[in-house]
Amino acid sequence: MTAESASCVDAPTEEVTIELEGRTTTTRYRKGDTLLQSARSAELRPPYSCEIGNCGSCMARIVEGSAHMVNNDALEDDEVAEGWVLTCQSLPTSRTVRVVYE
Ligand code: FES
Repeated sequence: MTAESASCVDAPTEEVTIELEGRTTTTRYRKGDTLLQSARSAELRPPYSCEIGNCGSCMARIVEGSAHMVNNDALEDDEVAEGWVLTCQSLPTSRTVRVVYE
């Protein structure tokens, strides 16, 4: 289990852009929502299963901006270094963030 410091918040997040199944959707960010919750609030149907950071089925890549993963029991360090996150555990930490489900 990895736990990053919660002190890495740069700016309040305003928008989340999600690329899923060839469609790009931008939604206003609701404070406290994970990236997965943001996608679901935008009426998208992203993949997920456990919602506790164990299974990896919700993984997506951050291509712009940043997020803090509350819990990660699924991704390796090199995947995290490449920008992969567990969206069910990720709270955005930049003004805007762009997430791609591949
Ligand atoms: S849904 Fe299982 S790790 Fe996110």
